Amino acid sequence: MRRGSIVQLVILGSLFGGGAAAVALLVPWLPRPASEQADRVDFVFWFVTAICISIFALVAAVIVYSLLKFRARPGDDADGPPIHGHTGLEIWWTAIPAVLVTAISIVSAIVLSRNEHLPSASAASGQRDPLAPLVVDVTAQQFSWLFKYPGFENATSSTLQLPIHAPVQLRLTSLDVIHSFWVPQFSQKQDAVPGMVTKLVITPKRLGTYDVICTELCGLGHALMRSEAKVMTRAAFMKWAKSQGSAANPGNAAPGGTSGKTLFVSNGCNGCHTFKPANAAGSIGPDLDKLPDFARRAGKPLDEFIRESIVKPNAYVEPGYQPIMPGTFSGLPPQQITALVKFLGGGK
Ligand code: CUA
Repeated sequence: MRRGSIVQLVILGSLFGGGAAAVALLVPWLPRPASEQADRVDFVFWFVTAICISIFALVAAVIVYSLLKFRARPGDDADGPPIHGHTGLEIWWTAIPAVLVTAISIVSAIVLSRNEHLPSASAASGQRDPLAPLVVDVTAQQFSWLFKYPGFENATSSTLQLPIHAPVQLRLTSLDVIHSFWVPQFSQKQDAVPGMVTKLVITPKRLGTYDVICTELCGLGHALMRSEAKVMTRAAFMKWAKSQGSAANPGNAAPGGTSGKTLFVSNGCNGCHTFKPANAAGSIGPDLDKLPDFARRAGKPLDEFIRESIVKPNAYVEPGYQPIMPGTFSGLPPQQITALVKFLGGGK
């Protein structure tokens, strides 16, 4: 091969490689990582992208060079020279992809195993640290998320509250169909499957509020199945968790004696509904401060209407809203449903 041809190939390759690199680097394709796991996932993305750009530059340069150099000139009807195979080339174009694909699988396997690793609690002090690691039980259902903190007296929340720099283990399950937990800034997805518990480790590294998105088509309200993940300082988290924990268990009362307000929060009603007595400000479902108006429109006495709306949510659907309220609340113990009806009807 002549020296001039090699220079031309290098120029073409640099042009294509530079163009592809600009598209990769100048467009913000990925959200800014907010967890240590997201950093590692991003590293794999860039590792694969760099390999792809190199291969693209090489292939594009050879194609364009060949198109220009070996094209048929006007009046040239001759057959090309009879060429069959090139053992040297074939060895290279088999060996190089094999090495690259192996490298990608090794890097991915290392990242996957590090991302799934949960640092275990240090046995240094006799007292167990609730943040080493923090465990959060995540319950998905059509169409809401509920987060429970077993290390903090089963404090419950319709948003995911996390302390920064502490590894968290999510234990996910679902009450109805398959959902999938996703926070784009954390880079990972994990399915929530009825009848089993799946796990996900997150180590947040940036303060802020991020969207929790259901990323498995799960029914009519799939697009509305959103919540928030709030990453806060360790001190702010401890304060929040302690206040939530004691609110969920006032005086460690027996489960049967739970108040309507507590049930409203622990079942995640506040994730979708506005209701002033519970300080709830959800906007996916109807504003429950207007329940008396809804009951009048449905033509039912208030208490009967509320009970029916909990047990058979699609019997009456307020105009302007989708029939997406979960039907699973009919499975609550009867005394809890009665407590909720009382609370929503204006009682305590
Ligand atoms: Cu739950 Cu989509």
